[in-house]
Amino acid sequence: MINSELSHLRGSPFDALRSLLDPLAPVPDIDPTILTIGEPQHKPPQLMIEALRANEHLYGKYPPVGGTAELRGAITGWLSRRYELPEGMIEADQNIAPVNGTKEALYMIASVITERAGHNQPKPVILLPTPYYHVYHAAAVMAGAEPIFLPAGQKSHFFPDLDALTPELLDRTSAFYLCNPSNPQGTVASADYLAETLALARKHDFMLIVDECYSEIYDKTPPTGILEICAKAGGALDHVLAFHSLSKRSSAAGLRSGFCVGKSDIIKTFLNLRNFAGAASPLPVCAAAAALWNDDTHVTENRSLYREKFDMAEEIFGSNFGFYRPEGGFFLWLDVGDGVEAAKRLWTKAAVRVLPGKFLSVPGPDGVNPGDPYIRVALVSPPEDSKEALTRLANSL
Ligand SMILES: Cc1ncc(COP(=O)(O)O)c(C=O)c1O
Repeated sequence: MINSELSHLRGSPFDALRSLLDPLAPVPDIDPTILTIGEPQHKPPQLMIEALRANEHLYGKYPPVGGTAELRGAITGWLSRRYELPEGMIEADQNIAPVNGTKEALYMIASVITERAGHNQPKPVILLPTPYYHVYHAAAVMAGAEPIFLPAGQKSHFFPDLDALTPELLDRTSAFYLCNPSNPQGTVASADYLAETLALARKHDFMLIVDECYSEIYDKTPPTGILEICAKAGGALDHVLAFHSLSKRSSAAGLRSGFCVGKSDIIKTFLNLRNFAGAASPLPVCAAAAALWNDDTHVTENRSLYREKFDMAEEIFGSNFGFYRPEGGFFLWLDVGDGVEAAKRLWTKAAVRVLPGKFLSVPGPDGVNPGDPYIRVALVSPPEDSKEALTRLANSL
């Protein structure tokens, strides 16, 4: 009595990591450092705490599924500021769906935009990169689609090679998940690449779902957002949905707050589904989220902490292990030869926990998993703890 699609789910990379490392004891006398999960350990902004406290009398109320007008207004204001969008391109009450974390929203959206295959018809396709954020795959499977992994290797700046996509495949596609900046590799898609992907979505009638949750953590240049590409192409939001989160931007993973922006009919349908199957954010959370989207100062400060850590990493690794400064996001994607062996060694010899690249990617047709040589290192600890941990890590590789 269980949905047979569930048997196609792939295991969580963090379960795989626990199976790999939990049986091994870390070196004693060193406090373990966890650099696996993308959970920023920077102090959450005081303005968030204050907004939560000031609104705590509202915890007793059921919150509306679409959040508050104040929150939608703050999000729209931020989008317009950040991407210099023309007035009226994003309407707070039409184009924004606040969500309680983008993880579950990225999952749920696939079923909103994917038509189930009829009897004896081929399943629609959902395209996703590999390496990948594991939720995209589960979303595709549970929406009744066929997930197709697109290798995102170094040659194509760690984004899927669009030239490799055939018209037949694109015609069967209902959605294409793109993560920009890329996780785990930390590269940023060019405006041309985004424009080309959007043009394919419009030509072949699929939804381009752009996960921009790392967009505010960048080294030098703010990553181009898909909404900027839409603005340049006349401002329509057809065939596009973008997801943003406060988890990384504001070091507020526990607040569980983000949003989806898109065309009004899709947003309306999405919110309608969420009336049945989505937890609305509590009103104090909406107030805190509005305060965070209204403020850019804490984000600038947050970014400077990451830059400090990129500097440290550059000094420690130089050109070893294929090190490069991430253009966006906060992960190092290091080529250590054998990521699984390195993760075991780092845990047992240096008490540093990192994620083998293998757990984030799938083998290609040749049976080789392109993630095998890599480890992902999340630079999430505060700078003062990171130097020591990175030095320990480098010395044990
Ligand atoms: C690529 C990517 N997308 C989305 C998320 C989800 O973030 P949240 O649910 O905290 O908004 C994460 C979290 O680690 C992520 O790495």
